[in-house]
Amino acid sequence: MRAWQLEDFGLDNLRLAERPTPRPKRGEILVKVSAVSLNYRDKAIVDGVYDPEKMPKYLIPVNDAAGVVAEVGPGVTEWQVGDRVLSHFYSHWLDGAPARDEPDWQLGGPLDGGLAEYMILEAKSAVPTPANLTDEQASTLPIAALTAWFALVEYGKLQPGESVLVQGTGGVSLFSVQIATALGARVVATSSSDEKLRRVAALGASDLINYRTTPNWADHVLDLTNGRGVDHVVEVVAGEGLNQSVRATKAAGHIALVGFLGGQTAPLNVMPLLYSQVAIRGIAVGHRRAFLEMNRWIEQQHLEPVIDSVFSFEESRRAYERLEQGPFGKIVIRVGD
Ligand SMILES: NC(=O)c1ccc[n+]([C@@H]2O[C@H](COP(=O)([O-])OP(=O)(O)OC[C@H]3O[C@@H](n4cnc5c(N)ncnc54)[C@H](OP(=O)(O)O)[C@@H]3O)[C@@H](O)[C@H]2O)c1
Repeated sequence: MRAWQLEDFGLDNLRLAERPTPRPKRGEILVKVSAVSLNYRDKAIVDGVYDPEKMPKYLIPVNDAAGVVAEVGPGVTEWQVGDRVLSHFYSHWLDGAPARDEPDWQLGGPLDGGLAEYMILEAKSAVPTPANLTDEQASTLPIAALTAWFALVEYGKLQPGESVLVQGTGGVSLFSVQIATALGARVVATSSSDEKLRRVAALGASDLINYRTTPNWADHVLDLTNGRGVDHVVEVVAGEGLNQSVRATKAAGHIALVGFLGGQTAPLNVMPLLYSQVAIRGIAVGHRRAFLEMNRWIEQQHLEPVIDSVFSFEESRRAYERLEQGPFGKIVIRVGD
């Protein structure tokens, strides 16, 4: 099969190669990959800033994959050849609290991912594709959509009429806007671009803040909410900005700590957090049970992911470059026919 492999860190070292097509062992399925989508982590892995010591040489990158079952291994009863299937990022986290070693089983690094014509998935881990979506659309769900769902629904227990702050217009944030809007929440969105704010309003955000021209955006959020603050923040930035998020959240509200676009450490002012009793909860995408529940909901809602652009398999490196340019929507790579 043809596969992109990371021969060393740096995008120039992501190279198209011929590799033996893997055969499914007991409990595994072989998936003919139709499409993959990129997340921030995929670029961070290539750049060598995401757990570099854990990434094997010749890694096949990218978790998010949609495809069709091509072969089932011995003992597999859950799947048949021809079934449509998605990868599940924390491939061993099926339900309940995460085990300590969950990161060892992440697809797309440290385990091989889907930027190849075929990939192996564990039968108990793979997830059926929502019937209302094409493989290109569905390939955007495994990380960005499930993270938004886990933050807002599984942990956040979001209720109609509550308010949600989303930061920037990246993959997790756009799914957060779509999910929160469909659940009847009020969405406050930030972006560095007025043009992107107009587009995020079309997805359902009712309150818009340009964080470049309004650097003290937390004050603006307080103005919008009569001094109370929002019920939920989907925090994709962290760093220094985490203190503004605490300020922008209502007393005993909920910050889902998802990302680190502003830095992997955060100098937190302790006293405001104590007084406001805001809960900051780490998010690690989500478990398979939530993925199944989200997909059923996506089918009922006819929710369609926002896609910025679709690249061919041969253009994969250009897809990574597009990710760096601040797209509006997910970047998809078409792999199969
Ligand atoms: N913990 C988890 O389970 C999990 C899961 C998924 C992602 N993540 C993390 O979450 C973060 C976002 O991931 P993603 O895939 O959604 O990223 P992405 O699609 O690459 O998002 C990029 C966008 O983020 C916005 N942004 C960048 N810096 C910002 C800042 N200082 N303030 C506000 N917005 C800013 C920009 O939006 P504008 O152009 O509109 O300004 C930019 O276009 C990353 O750190 C990623 O590693 C974590």
